[in-house]
Amino acid sequence: MTPEKKILCIGAGYVGGPTMALIAHKCPDYQVTVVDINPERIAQWNSDTLPIYEPGLDSIVKSVRDRNLFFSTEIEKGIRENDLIFVSVNTPTKTFGVGSGMAADLQYWEKTARQILEHSEGPKIIIEKSTLPVKTAQAMERILTANNNRMRFDVLSNPEFLAEGTAVKDLENPDRVLIGAHRTPEGKKAQDMLVGIYARWVPRERILTCDIWSSELSKLVSNAFLAQRVSSINAISALCEKTDADITQVARAVGMDGRIGNRFLNASVGFGGSCFQKDILNLVYLCRHYGLYEVADYWEGVIRINDHQKNRFVFNMLNAMFNTLANKKICMFGFAFKADTGDTRESPAIFISKRLLEEKAELVISDPKALPNARIDLRGIDQNVRYVEDPYEAAAGTHAIAVLTEWGLYRTLDYQKIFDAMVQPAFIFDGRNVLDHKALFEIGFNVYPIGKPPLIHF
Ligand code: UDX
Ligand code: UDX
Repeated sequence: MTPEKKILCIGAGYVGGPTMALIAHKCPDYQVTVVDINPERIAQWNSDTLPIYEPGLDSIVKSVRDRNLFFSTEIEKGIRENDLIFVSVNTPTKTFGVGSGMAADLQYWEKTARQILEHSEGPKIIIEKSTLPVKTAQAMERILTANNNRMRFDVLSNPEFLAEGTAVKDLENPDRVLIGAHRTPEGKKAQDMLVGIYARWVPRERILTCDIWSSELSKLVSNAFLAQRVSSINAISALCEKTDADITQVARAVGMDGRIGNRFLNASVGFGGSCFQKDILNLVYLCRHYGLYEVADYWEGVIRINDHQKNRFVFNMLNAMFNTLANKKICMFGFAFKADTGDTRESPAIFISKRLLEEKAELVISDPKALPNARIDLRGIDQNVRYVEDPYEAAAGTHAIAVLTEWGLYRTLDYQKIFDAMVQPAFIFDGRNVLDHKALFEIGFNVYPIGKPPLIHF
């Protein structure tokens, strides 16, 4: 049977993989192919152990794989055979040249655009899934139309808002789907076609259409606003620690104002993830480019507070543990940047591990899903690091536990058993405020939450 539509996605990462799996699942009459330059990644997508951990993803992939969802390394063939191409290759922060440390590195995107141009044999619709600086679509269009009168390329912006750990849920039931297109008859036609795909499972009123630039900017701004909330509550957590107020109480009182809302107000050791910092830096770079220095400084403050929060956490540990961590053993509960993912990109745990190692502490890192990535992140500096999945074994013989990821598992452990096997006095630094602090104190721990008075025995 000929498929109703043939879709290609270039980039089989955290965004491309789950998004395409869901489209294939919701649209059994479409044929979806995901390609990537990394053969190992493709082999993993085709195996029993997917390259990323995402609740619910395994069963969806298994139900559609090799039926109407295919993973392959044949990028050129994919381009030739599909007229609808999503691009979700990575756009990391530049580490060289102009805009280093700030601007997005667009080399993979540009390379992909050139590849599409080279191997296309007919008109294509190109859909930006990667988060990109405003006006990237324009640059891509210029590449795609350079010296080319044969074929038509329409570029759409369709940013992905899924969060890791809840990707399947977010894709199945998104708050909104955003599709930006040129305000031309052809742009409108391409936009309508993409609306038609999402309308298979997303209520029509949640599918927003707008111009391309607004769509690209909305993605950056959504992430900036979310990160800003975390930095706002974290900034206040520092004040709470100085004044004996309790950040959980403050967040509850503030969040009950319907205008503010109660989500994304959990004080923490700091935000991580591949998007928040990168997208804010991108926004800051853009503002500076346009001479909007005050606006740029305002958003940069969100990152400054995040860095401050991570630093504060280490200072609090150092202070609490008699101003020396040298040769002390510290157990880290969690290394992923958030719960329910094995992803460690920009995880606060990376920064904190490095700082603790500088203080000459010995680390035991525990995490149910992120240990392979942790080993990569600390490669070359982990002579004094052990990686131990079992939390009891990890904590035994250590002076302190630092909770860095809010895995549900950490709420349910037998902390009496853990305490009994630790060096005394035993400390616990709850960087996610997920544990029962009073109960821990009663067991004998010295407990340091975020944004609350510590509970200490001396
Ligand atoms: C990526 C971007 O990081 C993010 O900015 C954007 O919003 C969505 O796409 P993610 O899926 O998390 O997010 O990235 P990653 O897991 O690194 O996946 C990107 C994939 O693209 C990798 O598997 C990489 O091998 C592949 N890739 C990269 C290509 O296939 N071709 C390239 O030229 C470059
Ligand atoms: C984010 C956006 O939510 C998503 O829409 C976008 O597509 C990609 O970036 P993600 O990075 O996967 O998703 O996770 P998110 O749940 O937003 O958490 C980001 C970071 O903020 C994590 O480190 C998390 O622990 C932290 N966080 C979040 C807090 O510290 N407190 C909160 O209240 C919420």
